[in-house]
Amino acid sequence: MLCYYRAFPEPRTDAMRVLGIETSCDETGIALYDSEHGLLADALYSQVDMHAEYGGVVPELASRDHIRKTLPLIREVLGRAHTELSELDGIAYTAGPGLVGALMVGAAIGRALAWSLDIPALAVHHMEGHLLAPLLAETKPTMPFVALLVSGGHTQLVRVDAIGVYQILGESIDDAAGEAFDKTAKLLGLPYPGGPALARLAEQGRPGRFQFPRPMTDRPGLAFSFSGLKTAALNAVRKAEPLSEQDKADIALAFEAAVVDTLTIKCRRALQQTGLTQLVMAGGVAANQTLRLRLQQELPGQVFYAPPALCTDNGAMIAYAGCQRLLAGQSEPLWIRTRARWPMTELSAVNG
Ligand code: KG4
Ligand code: ZN
Repeated sequence: MLCYYRAFPEPRTDAMRVLGIETSCDETGIALYDSEHGLLADALYSQVDMHAEYGGVVPELASRDHIRKTLPLIREVLGRAHTELSELDGIAYTAGPGLVGALMVGAAIGRALAWSLDIPALAVHHMEGHLLAPLLAETKPTMPFVALLVSGGHTQLVRVDAIGVYQILGESIDDAAGEAFDKTAKLLGLPYPGGPALARLAEQGRPGRFQFPRPMTDRPGLAFSFSGLKTAALNAVRKAEPLSEQDKADIALAFEAAVVDTLTIKCRRALQQTGLTQLVMAGGVAANQTLRLRLQQELPGQVFYAPPALCTDNGAMIAYAGCQRLLAGQSEPLWIRTRARWPMTELSAVNG
């Protein structure tokens, strides 16, 4: 009987070597993770240059490019790790949330490959991948912890008691933090993706010239709202026009300071509210150095994060997250199912 038809999960006692496939947006990420030896190899192809021309991700172009890049990158990663296809024990692919066409490419390739090799496949939740990526770093948190998930599509504070046991403490009621970075960067004429470019520009900014609000910090709770900051940035741009390079840098700094302050205030609150002492930062915006520094300096507890390359989209986090579930005996039936939206609280617990 094929393993994905197993009626009951059978936790594995031996080591597993898992191929991870990430194609949820504009990056093709492939990695090989071994539960005994760690990350063996990973490769990333970014479509940024292709989408930059349009100022944002064009879903159809993204899907087509994933088709071109996924198999060559799988070959590359296997070659670098001196691993044959026959040595794989499982395949993990991102099944959502994300762009459905882009997700379908990785899911179809991953599922078909697993079927042909007669090994289990596992559909990974992209945000669980981000959430667990800091466990790939040298200094790892231990559960329970509070996670700040800040990406292009999500801003959430999550209580993590175990893999799959997630409680959303608060989230954005409108734009995600990364989305606000990207939109403000666009206003300032910066290339897509705006977050890293805006952060670089902010380094030249003079503090105090513009003052932006710290949304929703004056009331209790852990919800976020970032769409007003974008409007504040637009008003500042209009007031300062025509913009000099210094004006742009000053606005960038004021914007970044507002986001960082807001996130810091809410993270402190989340630790107080839960009584937990560890904060994990994950998702693309967790690569922001100012945010890292502030959280490290100002939070009462310990702050953990993945290396910058594992904060933004990558295959390693998918291979790792998938491996934890595969080790616990979880796997997918033969269907290929992807989800544009997928609440993380719907995930099942891993009782490893
Ligand atoms: O996690 P990610 O790679 O993709 C999603 O799942 O969305 O996050 C991408 C987001 C983008 O909005 C990007 O502008 C933002 O993360 N980002 C940053 C930085 N690096 C990436 N934002 C601020 N500062 C950075 N250094
Ligand atoms: Zn992501």
